[in-house]
Amino acid sequence: MSNSKVSLPVIRRLPRYFRYITELKSNGKTRVSSSQLAAVMGSTPSQVRQDFNCFGGFGQQGIGYSVDLLYDEIEHLLFPNSHIDAILIGAGSLGATMANFVLTETEGVNLKAIFDNNQNLVGKTLSNIKIHDVETVVDYCQEHKPELIIICIPKAAAEQLAPVILKSGVKGIWNFSHYDYSVYDKSLIVENVHLRDSLMALSYRINHSEDEE
Ligand code: NAI
Repeated sequence: MSNSKVSLPVIRRLPRYFRYITELKSNGKTRVSSSQLAAVMGSTPSQVRQDFNCFGGFGQQGIGYSVDLLYDEIEHLLFPNSHIDAILIGAGSLGATMANFVLTETEGVNLKAIFDNNQNLVGKTLSNIKIHDVETVVDYCQEHKPELIIICIPKAAAEQLAPVILKSGVKGIWNFSHYDYSVYDKSLIVENVHLRDSLMALSYRINHSEDEE
């Protein structure tokens, strides 16, 4: 399986394929065609085949893909080490929502610890995960080696914490703050999530629907 040069758009489509295939699997379906996948993805059968060819193909043309095989292969691509250990910084409203989301709605990510600088929160728990003093985050990371940090703090705090995050040795940041960590260090793998961008894009599309191709 050669996936050393897979483009970001293909990587971004994998979770959507996985979501649909998970649904098919739980509905007891055993096979799916590239046309069926293309219909839910809003693409073409040839795009689906091209995407899957980046990873070796996943199946024989003509008889469709085995749902079980697709599920196993894509799950392995998304979570090759079965679980990624994560920590979360910012135990406020967003942090509480994201902690609950990661614990109840996602596969492949183990949320191990939460950090905050508010001493009234330190020592308490969120979704049964202990909140630690953010001052201890580097020591924690050096000992437990989480690969992922989820950032749920305001922009100024996120910027201030950038050197700490770099020292922590994590590989990836799921970033809900409005500070762009890749400006600080281009080698960090960062997924920036901005709900407002999504809403603004939706607003634009509602107001300019006649301009869309
Ligand atoms: P909040 O005020 O409820 O929680 C913020 C938490 O961060 C507090 O517990 C606070 O003590 C902690 N904190 C502040 N500075 C810290 C530091 N240096 N180290 C550790 N912890 C620190 O705010 P909420 O609603 O949870 O939002 C957090 C941030 O996320 C906001 O600044 C907001 O702009 C952003 N946000 C981003 C969204 C997105 O789509 N990207 C959506 C919603 C919020």
